[in-house]
Amino acid sequence: MTPEPCPPQWPSWPPPAPRPAAGSGRWRCDNRPMLPAVPYPIARPFLFRLDPERAHDLMLDAVARLQHTPARCLWAQPRVADPVTVAGLRFPNRVGLAAGLDKNGRCIDGLGAMGFGFVEVGTVTPRPQPGNPKPRVFRLVQAEALINRLGFNNDGLDAFLANVRAASSFRAAGGVIGLNIGKNAATPIEQAADDYLAGLEGVYPHADYVTVNISSPNTQNLRELQGDAALDALLGALVARREELARAQRRRVPMFVKIAPDLDESQVDLIAATLVRHGLDGVIATNTTVARDAVAGLPHAQEAGGLSGRPLLQASNRIIRRLRAALPALPIIGVGGILSGADARAKLEAGATLVQLYTGLIYRGPELVPEVAAALRDVAPGDAAVRDAAR
Ligand SMILES: Cc1cc2nc3c(=O)[nH]c(=O)nc-3n(C[C@H](O)[C@H](O)[C@H](O)COP(=O)(O)O)c2cc1C
Repeated sequence: MTPEPCPPQWPSWPPPAPRPAAGSGRWRCDNRPMLPAVPYPIARPFLFRLDPERAHDLMLDAVARLQHTPARCLWAQPRVADPVTVAGLRFPNRVGLAAGLDKNGRCIDGLGAMGFGFVEVGTVTPRPQPGNPKPRVFRLVQAEALINRLGFNNDGLDAFLANVRAASSFRAAGGVIGLNIGKNAATPIEQAADDYLAGLEGVYPHADYVTVNISSPNTQNLRELQGDAALDALLGALVARREELARAQRRRVPMFVKIAPDLDESQVDLIAATLVRHGLDGVIATNTTVARDAVAGLPHAQEAGGLSGRPLLQASNRIIRRLRAALPALPIIGVGGILSGADARAKLEAGATLVQLYTGLIYRGPELVPEVAAALRDVAPGDAAVRDAAR
């Protein structure tokens, strides 16, 4: 079914009421302008006047409502083509959306239309939970950073899966979808594996890859799962279940582990050895940091939670370099502090195979996606995983 093309440009806001394409209800935007119709530098001051979480919710609600209408042309952009095969998956380019922006997986098609090669949604927990009390997201504008202590607020696995199933256009256009799983706050850490196993079973049939998130600083004791014995037990259980699911469903879904930046070199080496021992398919480095030295003295710097954005770049690259030294062939998805194409190139130089964005999107807007994808397109491959990838 060929979707109806978008009009070249909307003359006014709000756009006319959506007209579903005959038979499909979907739209494509192949004649859209290179830049979104509402330039982000104009929208940003209005958004930044709002409470950060409110601004986020408003934007996400709008994308959810409009993503399957012609109005998606307001933010949709052509995707930079730079195909690369990693962990057996063909990524249309090396730039992905990081987990946490779309925790319930409501906007895969809409966000994917910004030009991402892959979109990771979640973290989802088995049961719905409200997260921590508000306010729980803070902008550190001078540092181009955020601090959040959301605490895995999400609608639970059933609602998440219904949303993921409803996504269609991104996957149909070759986009890769990652589903990120975690544990409920009320589940004792000793029983964490039960939540991850429930998450894995639920998301498995719908995921191109699964991310095991053991690195959020906002769920009590979660990062203990990165410890040697705890990680060994958790990954042992998950890999065994993954093999059963692969046999039953005749499809082997790659599994990645997402780690924190607040690890010393010996901890990174131990994690690397555990990943290899269990045959994990890749590692996502990194989540947010609890360190504050890079933002000391700035407003909100002392808020509890995880710091993301520009101040995270070097700390996250340090982890990637160490991982790459320990794991010459394992795919590494580099995330943390990318606000420009040059930042993304530095991630590849540190050893990343693919990259993801979150806070950079808040400060730079959708235009960051093609900028990063284009910057990475022609760089010399920085590691064995990229060198060996089919292009
Ligand atoms: C508000 C917010 C919520 C996040 N929620 C999650 C989450 O649910 N799961 C997860 O794995 N990472 C989550 N992250 C971490 C991001 O995916 C990313 O690893 C981190 O922000 C570093 O990248 P950045 O500097 O580009 O933002 C969150 C980050 C932010 C800022």
